[in-house]
Amino acid sequence: MEYRNLGSSDLKVSVIGYGAWGIGGAPFWKNEGDGNSLDSIKKAYDTGINFFDTAPVYGFGHSEELIGKAIKPFRDKLILATKCGLRWDKKSLASIRKDASRNSILEEVDQSLRRLDTDVIDLYQVHWPDAATEQQETMETLLEIQERGKIRHIGVSNYSAEQMRECLKFGKIISLQPKFNLLARDIQKDTVPVCVKNDIGIIAYSPLSSGVLTGKYDKSTKFTDWRSKGIIGTFSGEGFARNIEKVNRLKNIADEEGKTCAQTAINWVLRQEGITTALVGVKNPRQVEENRKAIGWEPSPEHREKIEEIFAPV
Ligand SMILES: NC(=O)c1ccc[n+]([C@@H]2O[C@H](COP(=O)([O-])OP(=O)(O)OC[C@H]3O[C@@H](n4cnc5c(N)ncnc54)[C@H](OP(=O)(O)O)[C@@H]3O)[C@@H](O)[C@H]2O)c1
Repeated sequence: MEYRNLGSSDLKVSVIGYGAWGIGGAPFWKNEGDGNSLDSIKKAYDTGINFFDTAPVYGFGHSEELIGKAIKPFRDKLILATKCGLRWDKKSLASIRKDASRNSILEEVDQSLRRLDTDVIDLYQVHWPDAATEQQETMETLLEIQERGKIRHIGVSNYSAEQMRECLKFGKIISLQPKFNLLARDIQKDTVPVCVKNDIGIIAYSPLSSGVLTGKYDKSTKFTDWRSKGIIGTFSGEGFARNIEKVNRLKNIADEEGKTCAQTAINWVLRQEGITTALVGVKNPRQVEENRKAIGWEPSPEHREKIEEIFAPV
């Protein structure tokens, strides 16, 4: 495994991080059984992954509880990240709302510490910008819980370049967690330069476009989980068909390199400017084993050029 410093912090994170969204199961994903999830966490640790990312909303607390339970024996060797700012009333997708207010964060951090069964969270991130709360209020609350020793570092997720600049007026953030993969490159225009300039690490989420870049789907695939919920373009409709064509071309390149499509897609993410780590979602040990081989090699110059041509931003 390779490790990189996360932004200006002293955290040295593995370039492949463990994304714990999927193991939360419902309401976003299918419940696939805690046995496989716990095994995949242990396998990740054994292969040198030291960076684990979860959130309260993943399985409405279930993902945090599983992570807390599985990492207990080696907690002090890991970098544990979770988030705040998404709340729910009933355990339903429709009831999820943004709230990054002082009262909400103070309540959430204690709940996360309890579910994770830990005394401190290494990286605490605002999950989504909350337009109804001033950045100043959010940042001051995070600085207060940092001062009280509940969290070590502050990060944000899904923030625009402008929102990060606003945030930086009130305190230090060490990381941004945006969506970034071959099919979603928006951040390269405005956001990456702000991160590079301010020494903010980038934790790329959905490096496999939530599975599409593994090459295991085709144009006739009908999703039955959150991916079926109207995100036209990425997971359905003509945009999906176009993406599948691109992925098929990537698969040919991967074959010629003797790699899998998933390995080639993760490898690309980690070669891009400003990216610290790729947060890969896994559900079982087999996927961990495959994905860890995404590093330590590079496609030939001809293949790198071809990949750029296929996935050029439109
Ligand atoms: N901050 C945010 O707003 C935000 C949003 C989304 C995600 N995230 C973070 O990023 C992490 C990863 O995101 P993600 O789950 O959307 O996407 P991803 O890493 O792009 O894709 C993960 C999915 O791909 C499949 N997969 C992974 N490795 C595979 C392999 N070797 N072979 C075949 N299939 C494989 C698995 O799906 P199946 O086994 O189900 O097929 C897995 O659930 C999350 O866990 C979370 O920590 C953050």
